[in-house]
Amino acid sequence: MIDGAKVRQDFLFEPEYVPLNHGSYGVFPRAVQKVQREYQDKTEAFPDRWMRLEMYPELRKSRELIAGLLHCPADDLIFCYNASSAANIILRNFPFNEGDKVLYYTQGYVNVNSTLEYVRDTKKIELVPVHLEFPLSHEEIVAATKEKLEEHKDIRLAVYDLISSLPGAVMPYEELQRLFKSKNIVTVADGAHVVGQIPVNLETLDPDFFFTNCHKWLFVPRGFAALYVKKSHQGALHPQTVNSFYVNHTNASDFSSFEKEFASPGTIDHSNYFCVEAALAYRESLGGEEAIMKHNHDLAVQGGALMAKILGTQVMENEQGTLTASMVNVELPITTPAGVSDADFGRQIMTKLVYDHHVMVSPFKNSGKWWMRACAQVYLTIDDFKKGAHAAAKVCQELRKD
Ligand SMILES: Cc1ncc(COP(=O)(O)O)c(C=O)c1O
Repeated sequence: MIDGAKVRQDFLFEPEYVPLNHGSYGVFPRAVQKVQREYQDKTEAFPDRWMRLEMYPELRKSRELIAGLLHCPADDLIFCYNASSAANIILRNFPFNEGDKVLYYTQGYVNVNSTLEYVRDTKKIELVPVHLEFPLSHEEIVAATKEKLEEHKDIRLAVYDLISSLPGAVMPYEELQRLFKSKNIVTVADGAHVVGQIPVNLETLDPDFFFTNCHKWLFVPRGFAALYVKKSHQGALHPQTVNSFYVNHTNASDFSSFEKEFASPGTIDHSNYFCVEAALAYRESLGGEEAIMKHNHDLAVQGGALMAKILGTQVMENEQGTLTASMVNVELPITTPAGVSDADFGRQIMTKLVYDHHVMVSPFKNSGKWWMRACAQVYLTIDDFKKGAHAAAKVCQELRKD
């Protein structure tokens, strides 16, 4: 049994803070912070020895640990700063031809979709959006995708989430991957919220590209994402910061420089890349991956139901209950006032939550309604969800009056 109140002492939160928004930036425990500081001290004590020689075997060890969690070869995995940079590396390097069509989802993460717009504007590709109004069953999401594929028979590449950001919803990613693969569509699987939240097996999923933040659900310090690239594409990718290992491959499947090009992003503080082992040891001390995932899922379901009851609204879920992993979306009893943009109103809700109530949940609009995304985590109890719901109720009441 994970005792949220006790586990909270392992983290660095302000006493008043009700941290219901793990999904945005993640946090890490003191035990991992200590290890990161030790790596920083080691670097400082003799920078050349560490940066030129000793860092590389440790980097390999971290890659092997993450590869073990993702079930993929460590050789096919590199590290970068975050999921947004992973999306940039893939989409800005992919050898698109003018007029290529790319399918994506409008609820996909804003930085990823903006990167697609940048590639549309610079490489003259065409974007094919799938718009989803939640809640939906997984069958309905697959059906909406099939409809788009019927309309556009020549999609070259598709970008899909395993778990989307807002709403925080599990997508039918196995069915989507199978569907795209059956049509020879290259796949970019956005797993920003995956490692540490749900199990994934890249060997069976078999995407062309996949990335996951380690700083969100795995408790490794930010910014740190792992990017998996199938061997047949490795020669086409180069890091955002091109370095002395750059090779212009005429064949995308020439992976000879992949590892080297991505191992050396110039001089930065890499200390978080070496905290994977410590983060996994901490997670083991709580019972390991399966126990953490089950605890968080159960708390999200229970906490979401309590929040909806307090607010007199509903949880965004389908009949099969397949949208919720460790993030739950609850309707807010409020509408945007006339003359105010949704963006400004969302900011007002958030600012009041943060400054008046020391609470953070992510407010967002979908299907014409306001919702909040609340994240379960090992350092929370059901009482935190109760506090979050009462804070949200008060904020909605005040904003309705203003
Ligand atoms: C689905 C998804 N993709 C990409 C990202 C980008 O992550 P980062 O801010 O770490 O780059 C996020 C962030 O929340 C996300 O939810």
